[in-house]
Amino acid sequence: MFVENIHLTGDDSAVEILDQTLLPGEKRLIRCTALEDMYEAIASLRVRGAPAIGIFAGYALYVLARHIRAADGEGFLAVLREHAACLEASRPTAVNLRHGLRRMLATAEQNISLSRDALLSRLRQEAVAIQEEDAAMNLEISRLGLRLLKPGDGILTHCNAGPLATSRYGTALGPILLGQEQGYGFHVYADETRPLLQGARLTAYELREAGVDVTLICDSMAASVMSQGRIQAVLVGCDRIAANGDTANKIGTCGAAVLAKHYGIPFYVLGPSTTVDMSTATGKDIVIEERDGREIAERYFVRPQAPAGVKTYNPAFDVTPAELITAIITERGVFRYPYGDAFERTFL
Ligand code: MRU
Repeated sequence: MFVENIHLTGDDSAVEILDQTLLPGEKRLIRCTALEDMYEAIASLRVRGAPAIGIFAGYALYVLARHIRAADGEGFLAVLREHAACLEASRPTAVNLRHGLRRMLATAEQNISLSRDALLSRLRQEAVAIQEEDAAMNLEISRLGLRLLKPGDGILTHCNAGPLATSRYGTALGPILLGQEQGYGFHVYADETRPLLQGARLTAYELREAGVDVTLICDSMAASVMSQGRIQAVLVGCDRIAANGDTANKIGTCGAAVLAKHYGIPFYVLGPSTTVDMSTATGKDIVIEERDGREIAERYFVRPQAPAGVKTYNPAFDVTPAELITAIITERGVFRYPYGDAFERTFL
């Protein structure tokens, strides 16, 4: 049922990923061996989704470490840190990327006195652990999330927070996929998610593959669908949760939260604890990635659909204020607004 979207090649010389920009039309695996390929794969969203880029970064740093030829441990660490800094700059909003890279660097620092082979073996183990832990967190998030839903519920989701964006169940799609296994019979409405269509290309694809009843809508149709009583819960993923509960996710998420509030529909954010960033105080401190305006005017159209040279503004994420979120579901529990000191007690 789950696509293996990120893995090492048999000889550990490359990280192989399913190129998400080509889905659902084409399932092509691509190999990333050099730093430039890895940077490009993240920046152009061949690998995407906050947890997935953290997992990819772990394997990427391991593959790059195998090529480092340095006179001593300090030299090795200096090169590894440069590679990590380069990859970290590829996408600024999802904190999981930084988390994966820093975890790999810490492993290298702690084991730098080992032999080269032993050090590389520790780095490999750490990268595998990042992926396996993500899968375990997703399963727990899926279980906790499913408890908030009823059989037959109508669910709206935005962007893609499924297996492709993570390891195994996914976050926002986790309770839906787990519910599908248990016969919940959900009716899912997937926002297409302009401009890069992650909802249409990836969420609709993953849910259909799993046999879930999924209906694709344009982002602008969410209010109408909610007003018709078709939605009992909104489930979305997250790229960074600030210490006060403000949450960055794909552009359009905040709009869905405002609508859900208006129509009295619970709005749930689901993500692993690796997405909680206690060093970011509020949503105002989250750096929002701004992308090329041609994604709005031209990408995925047969011909450009805007006047040549028109000004564009293309923020890839928005911040949903904590007060619009009914609950944040992580593997460590369900946090309901207002959070009091629950975040400090759990995540610090
Ligand atoms: O730009 P993307 O496609 O990487 O954006 C992804 C999202 O916004 C997801 O909802 C988020 O990363 C959570 S994935 C489990």
